[in-house]
Amino acid sequence: MISHNNSSKNNNLIQNNAAIGVFDSGIGGLTVVKHLRDLLPHEDIVYFGDTARLPYGIKSEEVVKRFAFEDSHFLLEHGVKIIVVACNTVGSTAIHLLEEHLNIPVIGVMQPGADACVKKTRNKKVGVIGTATTIRSGKYSQKIHELDSKIKVIDQACPLFVPLVEEGFFEDEATHFIAKRYLDKLIANNIDTLILGCTHYPVIKNIIQRIVGEDVVMVDSGEETAKFVEKYLASNNLGTSKSTKSELKLYVSDLSHKFQEIAEHFLHNSLSHIETIDFEQFLIEKGQDFRDYINQILIKDV
Ligand code: DGL
Repeated sequence: MISHNNSSKNNNLIQNNAAIGVFDSGIGGLTVVKHLRDLLPHEDIVYFGDTARLPYGIKSEEVVKRFAFEDSHFLLEHGVKIIVVACNTVGSTAIHLLEEHLNIPVIGVMQPGADACVKKTRNKKVGVIGTATTIRSGKYSQKIHELDSKIKVIDQACPLFVPLVEEGFFEDEATHFIAKRYLDKLIANNIDTLILGCTHYPVIKNIIQRIVGEDVVMVDSGEETAKFVEKYLASNNLGTSKSTKSELKLYVSDLSHKFQEIAEHFLHNSLSHIETIDFEQFLIEKGQDFRDYINQILIKDV
């Protein structure tokens, strides 16, 4: 998850009191922010949710990779000290490129989720749910099998979950009905542990738990990532020296009428700073050089 390149990055250049940058395709990553704020109450956070271009989970890998660089560079312009990629879809397609090409540490959500599920399973039957792109990538199975090749992984794409969640259908019959259709296969395979492999899913965790049964252990990859970030900042001497209450700045590329209500549900808290940015304008201002830089990276990656 942390590239070799990252570990050699010059920490002296990184301002300890700079914010942690977090991005996702939408507001799903706020489930990660919630845990980061619980564990690291003095760390400032700059969040970017690319709500105008959501969902990422049904787009091609190339498009997701391009978006990942654009979103990361938006955060870099805010002077963040690390970037948390709070999106499994980006984690499954582009994180290796971000780790290689950004000059600050990049932390994804998949490895902490995989580590936790390997520790938690008793019968070695693990379910993974995520977006179509995340499941198609097979990255969770790969990471789990690197840790324990005997674990049987049963995965299932749940493409309708993201729109249901963004619509605010948290405790809704429609969500229950669709979740049942998706989860039946996992139940039939007798899983005892389930990775919520999309940062949008923790807000419908109760519905999922009721369907799969109380005995199935849920792994929230966002929660595991926040624990990882806490350890990473401490062991790399990157923690803030501030003792004041932290600030959360939330930027989105589109602000729907229900946004604030839904975002506050994700965060279990109220929001003070939300700003809509014209992302197309941001990209125009970055110019042709920036487009060429991304194109070069993508050409070499195929
Ligand atoms: N929340 C994102 C994830 O973890 C993806 C949602 C989407 O844009 O499809 O995969």
